[in-house]
Amino acid sequence: MIPITRLHVGQEEADAAAEAVRSGWLSVGPRAGKFEQQVAEQVGAKHAVSVNSATTGLHLALAALGIGEGDEVICPSFTFIATPNSIRYTGATPVFADIDERTYNIDPAHVEQLITPRTRAIMPASQIGLPADLKALRAIADKHGLFLVEDAAPAYGATIDGVRLGAISDLTVFSFDARKILTTGEGGVVTTDNDEWAARLRALRAHAASVSTLARHTSTAVIAESYDEVGFNYKMTDIQAAVGVVQLGKLDHVVKTRRSLAARYDELLKGNDAVVTPFEPEGYGHVYQSYLVRLVRHERMAVMTAMAERGVATRRITACHLEPVYHAGEHNPVLPVTEKVAADHVLLPHFVGLTDEEQDEVVAALSAATA
Ligand SMILES: Cc1ncc(COP(=O)(O)O)c(C=O)c1O
Repeated sequence: MIPITRLHVGQEEADAAAEAVRSGWLSVGPRAGKFEQQVAEQVGAKHAVSVNSATTGLHLALAALGIGEGDEVICPSFTFIATPNSIRYTGATPVFADIDERTYNIDPAHVEQLITPRTRAIMPASQIGLPADLKALRAIADKHGLFLVEDAAPAYGATIDGVRLGAISDLTVFSFDARKILTTGEGGVVTTDNDEWAARLRALRAHAASVSTLARHTSTAVIAESYDEVGFNYKMTDIQAAVGVVQLGKLDHVVKTRRSLAARYDELLKGNDAVVTPFEPEGYGHVYQSYLVRLVRHERMAVMTAMAERGVATRRITACHLEPVYHAGEHNPVLPVTEKVAADHVLLPHFVGLTDEEQDEVVAALSAATA
């Protein structure tokens, strides 16, 4: 089977993890500190706060901004369920906006129509590695006094006008899970230029303790920390961070490889008028966490099944507002573009290490299924 992904990890990551274990310090500690510092430098943000997933990072970001019961946060429906779930965790309501038909990212014009007096934030997803239209969203957020909290889970290393995601939004959340650009197994990071939010993120990820675990354990004095509010346990381990530090060093290679694989798919699929290949707007640096094609006239499940039978794994993205957990019956929003794209797209195998032969076979399987 040609899998949807294969991990790009090896001896260096294994050695780094082993070294962390042997050090005797496994919880969030010095390696997490190093990982955070390197992330901050790499994305050009003042602060990076490591967490145990992007899902918890998104929740933490909203919690740090004081978003909760009675508030509304506008997000796309064409995203992983973690996006709206993170809003729900706070007690706020996710309000689903439609997407742009070419980028598959949230449509700023629709976002603006959905703003109410209860709206506190916009949470775009930089879906499958392509940045959302952050310039337009920033302008809308500023005009209406809203926070811009970006779900950049699949888009570590992506750029707009040469600037990496990480400090364009108020808070940016990246994932390091197994299918992302870089991985720590499970893991995430929240980046921001704001000192106050960074301090809140650090406290809230560790039960809002007034003194961090590392500071307590490395102090010779007796420290009595206090707990003034309800926090969470969202800390990344030092084992994950050690793996993460090695992975960060591979970013340029990973992005270059993913982009050239995408260009090769574009080329191989050029003559197939049954599929639409991805679009990269001028000035945008797509990192192609996934390679998404749309089917012009074939039924999606039939194509995925035929490809699976030929030994090629594929995936799809859900429209969250159609999932039972968010379906609001007769009051459900109608999101025409989301509903169309959600029904007619397929994600193809796309990872560092995908060979030319494998890629040729994916294209052959897709072409046979769409003949
Ligand atoms: C758009 C988006 N948001 C959030 C997440 C959640 O990331 P994590 O698995 O690190 O919680 C994902 C992961 O698949 C994602 O694709």
